[in-house]
Amino acid sequence: MSQPAPVRAVKGMKDVLWPESYRWEVFVEIFARTVQRAGYGLVLSPLVEEVRLFQRGIGDHSEVVTKEMYELSDRDGRRLALRPEGTAPVVRVFVEHRPTVPWKVWYATPAFRYERPQAGRYREHHQVGVEVIGSDDPDLDVEVVALADSFYKELGLGHVALAVNSMGCGACRAIYVDALRAYLIDHRDELRDEHAQRLDRPLRVLDCKDPACRAVTEKAPRLIDFLDEDCKEHFERFTQGLSALGIEHHLDPRLVRGFDYYTRTTFEFAATELHSAQNAIGGGGRYDALVEQVGGPAEPGIGFAIGIERVLLACDAEGCFEVSPPGLDAFVVDLTGGAAARDICHELRQAGASVDRAFGNRSLRAGLRLAHRSGARAAIIVGADELQAGEVTLRDLRSEGSQERVPRSELARALVALAQRSGEHPRS
Ligand code: HAM
Repeated sequence: MSQPAPVRAVKGMKDVLWPESYRWEVFVEIFARTVQRAGYGLVLSPLVEEVRLFQRGIGDHSEVVTKEMYELSDRDGRRLALRPEGTAPVVRVFVEHRPTVPWKVWYATPAFRYERPQAGRYREHHQVGVEVIGSDDPDLDVEVVALADSFYKELGLGHVALAVNSMGCGACRAIYVDALRAYLIDHRDELRDEHAQRLDRPLRVLDCKDPACRAVTEKAPRLIDFLDEDCKEHFERFTQGLSALGIEHHLDPRLVRGFDYYTRTTFEFAATELHSAQNAIGGGGRYDALVEQVGGPAEPGIGFAIGIERVLLACDAEGCFEVSPPGLDAFVVDLTGGAAARDICHELRQAGASVDRAFGNRSLRAGLRLAHRSGARAAIIVGADELQAGEVTLRDLRSEGSQERVPRSELARALVALAQRSGEHPRS
């Protein structure tokens, strides 16, 4: 009988195994530490939401909703979607629970988009992000961008370019969109067919990376020149704030981003050492009308999300954020049947040490090979002699050959002493 074909991970989705997954752990830890220092608390919400949340939130006609969403029906016929991003779900949480404002939250989440997979672009990717609901103070925009900036710096990334723009409010953007449409109609012949035929959503053309479209949009009217007085002042206070904090940035008048919810401030971080088209390592902006669109009170909001996979690729390109998991304090090799290893592991773990062991009947040689492979600092060997004497042999695996007999009751203390001698600290 032939074997059934193995089941593999879904196209565009990836497994992350130890020790690479340790990097992810540290990544999220550093992010949490960075944003908790600024008063952000973790928010958890379901991975699945009603489709209409994203239709209302991200926009009925946006690419993400029309082409990329993973949709499903549950057994009661509800139309659900796996979250393609984290902002609309957080806004839904706010509307449902009405926490006091300003409400500052952070999250770490997978996000699902049915995109064409390529280097740096996946159908399941992971984001860390923040959202703040309840203030339109431009200093908050500065705070949010500064947090992302500090996080990249904390990871050691040095080649990050920050582009900023303003999408204006509903009123000034409407005037701009008319002007942009008129300009694009005049240049229709030079645009890619897909845009030439559909100028009902002209902002999307600004996002197009096709060289022909870029040549046209290079000289297109700029949203920044259409801002009304309030939006202009808001944007100036934002960029002045960034400069005051020494955060380098440049204006990208074509930065519109892919979701319909953005108003006023938008920004995107690009890793300039990543040569693929997928070099955006984070982005965000204001969404002052979204809470109302989702059925809540008129509260403004702002946030960003950072793509974990992309940032790790950027770190690889720059040779930074190389972390390796801490080794174990000890590895137990029991030559007397296993009960001693069972008890020693339990006792030492309760005392706070990190300990693993070999299972099954093994020779001393095979057991020590496993001990070395585990990266442990010490091997705890239990032979018949030791068992009888109520002792163990503690072997220092970092300085080959050095070992001592230690009473079982002294083992935890001996491990600490060994770590101190080698200039390390045991985990306890
Ligand atoms: P976004 O720009 O769509 O924004 O995604 C944030 C980041 O996720 C991107 O900068 C990129 O690093 C990463 N990313 C996006 N799509 C993929 C993909 N297919 N594969 C790998 N990485 C990807 C948002 O999601 C907004 N919710 C951000 C936001 C928060 N705006 C306001 N608040």
